[in-house]
Amino acid sequence: MADQPAEKKFTVNKYAVVDDNVEIGDGTKIWHFSHVQSGSKIGHHCVIGQNVNVANNVTIGNYVKIQNNVSVYEGVELEDYVFCGPSMVFTNILDPRCKYPQVGAEFYIKTVVKEGASLGANSTIVCGHTIGRAALVGAGAVVTKDVPDFALVVGNPARIVGWVSEAGKKLAFDKDGYAYCEKSKKKYHLSNGSVKESTE
Ligand SMILES: CC(C)(COP(=O)(O)OP(=O)(O)OC[C@H]1O[C@@H](n2cnc3c(N)ncnc32)[C@H](O)[C@@H]1OP(=O)(O)O)[C@@H](O)C(=O)NCCC(=O)NCCS
Repeated sequence: MADQPAEKKFTVNKYAVVDDNVEIGDGTKIWHFSHVQSGSKIGHHCVIGQNVNVANNVTIGNYVKIQNNVSVYEGVELEDYVFCGPSMVFTNILDPRCKYPQVGAEFYIKTVVKEGASLGANSTIVCGHTIGRAALVGAGAVVTKDVPDFALVVGNPARIVGWVSEAGKKLAFDKDGYAYCEKSKKKYHLSNGSVKESTE
């Protein structure tokens, strides 16, 4: 069988605006009314939904999905396979004041969303925090602290209410702290308040 042609190029809807000096990976799609600003890098096979702003100098990994009405402000970094639910909110200044403007990269407080994490619809991430690998932030949660890998957090302020697998399934740990997820086909271990993938 002949080799399949590799998927090339990205797609930008005619109502989207992509500034100069932007890198966008193959297979990425950018939908209506979105704006990708200068200096940003978007990986391959991402979906940037409708009315999304990717601000200056933002880095977005591969296979990232950003639902409608999300602004990814400067200072935010999204690793591979991050999911941003519709209308969720990032921030990059803790004490905003119009009279005392803080404009420029030196003012922006960093937020990192690790590989495979999902941020629920209408959640808010107060800047300066890391959302751990494969963590799941519930709809409407307000994140005010770092979220550990595989944690499920809900509420305002967001609190850990459980743990989830890489596939987003709730983990039920046995008395030795092990849990198996059928969907991800992976085993996890809970110890001292943190969850790791287990090969045992
Ligand atoms: C957090 C979440 C994963 C929990 O799902 P779940 O485990 O099936 O939740 P349940 O329906 O069993 O609810 C368990 C409890 O948590 C509460 N709860 C569920 N989601 C909640 C949320 N987002 N915030 C606060 N409380 C929540 C329920 O009210 C229930 O409380 P109770 O025990 O006092 O009755 C889910 O509700 C959620 O928010 N998913 C994200 C959805 C989303 O934003 N998708 C975006 C793509 S469209």
